[in-house]
Amino acid sequence: MLLRKDFPFFNRASCVYLDNAATTQKPRVVIDRIAQAYTHDVANIHRGIYRHAERVTDLYENARGQIADFIGADKKELIFNAGTTMGINSIAATWGSRNIKAGDEIILSVVEHHSNLIAWQQLAQRNGAIIKLIPLAADGALDLSVFESMLSGRTKLVAITYISNVLGVATDIARVVRGARRVGARVLIDAAQAVAHRAIHVRDLDVDFLAFSGHKIFGPTGIGVLYIKHELIDALDPFLFGGGMVQQFDWRAPQWLDAPRKFEAGTAPVAEVLGLAQAVDYVQQIGFERIKAHETALVGMLLDGLVVLPRVGVLGPVQQLRRQGHMVSFVVDGVHAHDVAAYLDAQELPIAVRAGQQCASLLHRAMGIHASVRVSFSIYNTAQEVAHLLDVMKKLCADLR
Ligand code: ALA
Repeated sequence: MLLRKDFPFFNRASCVYLDNAATTQKPRVVIDRIAQAYTHDVANIHRGIYRHAERVTDLYENARGQIADFIGADKKELIFNAGTTMGINSIAATWGSRNIKAGDEIILSVVEHHSNLIAWQQLAQRNGAIIKLIPLAADGALDLSVFESMLSGRTKLVAITYISNVLGVATDIARVVRGARRVGARVLIDAAQAVAHRAIHVRDLDVDFLAFSGHKIFGPTGIGVLYIKHELIDALDPFLFGGGMVQQFDWRAPQWLDAPRKFEAGTAPVAEVLGLAQAVDYVQQIGFERIKAHETALVGMLLDGLVVLPRVGVLGPVQQLRRQGHMVSFVVDGVHAHDVAAYLDAQELPIAVRAGQQCASLLHRAMGIHASVRVSFSIYNTAQEVAHLLDVMKKLCADLR
């Protein structure tokens, strides 16, 4: 695939990289943009009053506008932070602490990544809120009819993943939002696994909060985006305090800057934001249709090869995965997932996959398994790589007999 040439990693790759749900490789344009940012665009923005700092401030704010457009948000609603985990924790610490009280309910699902679980568990422990979990249906997808039956006047928040980082299937966010609105609950979306694979439009989805990380969409590590809906953002208290977020310090009543600046204390991650904007531009040039066509073709090929292997069990709703997935998780009967991953990594041409509980321990418990192996694709993976993986998996299953 032509796009592979865009990624210098593959010039000297030491493995077949199939761990893209954990993090993606970086295209040359992003690497160059970061290098350029550290060469020519170094200044402490929003502070320096000389023209160089003002030019870099403009670059940063233009990047904010571009990334806001990408998800259908307004610039004012888009906060830069360290990543999905920080975004979700920030909402729990401020909006959650203020609005969720003892006896109130937070609805999560069993597929949540720990980043959209532990922050809420900690909040509930502090304030006596109750957490309810949407279970899996018989087909392995989330059971949204159970979700609908859980909703009540006590529900204050539904915090849910867009795409499970293990099962790879998307949640019907429109249905979740419809349910939440009926009872006046807010909706937070963990979009970490969705952002590089499908178009997200926060206004169309009508969600209240949404978080994602730059490194999963070909951008740098250490940069993330938190969207907060306009009608909530002004009333929300800052969650990080320091320089660059206060209009006027006063011992009794400091005056914060307007959003989003009041949420961005400290020196801004300029190179990371410029790198992320470049990554977003790269994805927009490719287009999600092309990304989806490529990834679902690889998923289909992998599923065809795995389902005929003895002892291999694929997790989740396979038909849905074939239509829209970019990853496949599976177990091998009688072999621990770590051992499968070690076997794949021990090949002459090593294969890199994720194995274990994948930060989704509730899901593994619900499925009655200890761990799983996850193969996750991106635009640069090839059919030859899938064929190699399947050859090795066949060998592994044959060795077990
Ligand atoms: N959240 C990342 C994953 O699922 C790290 O692999």
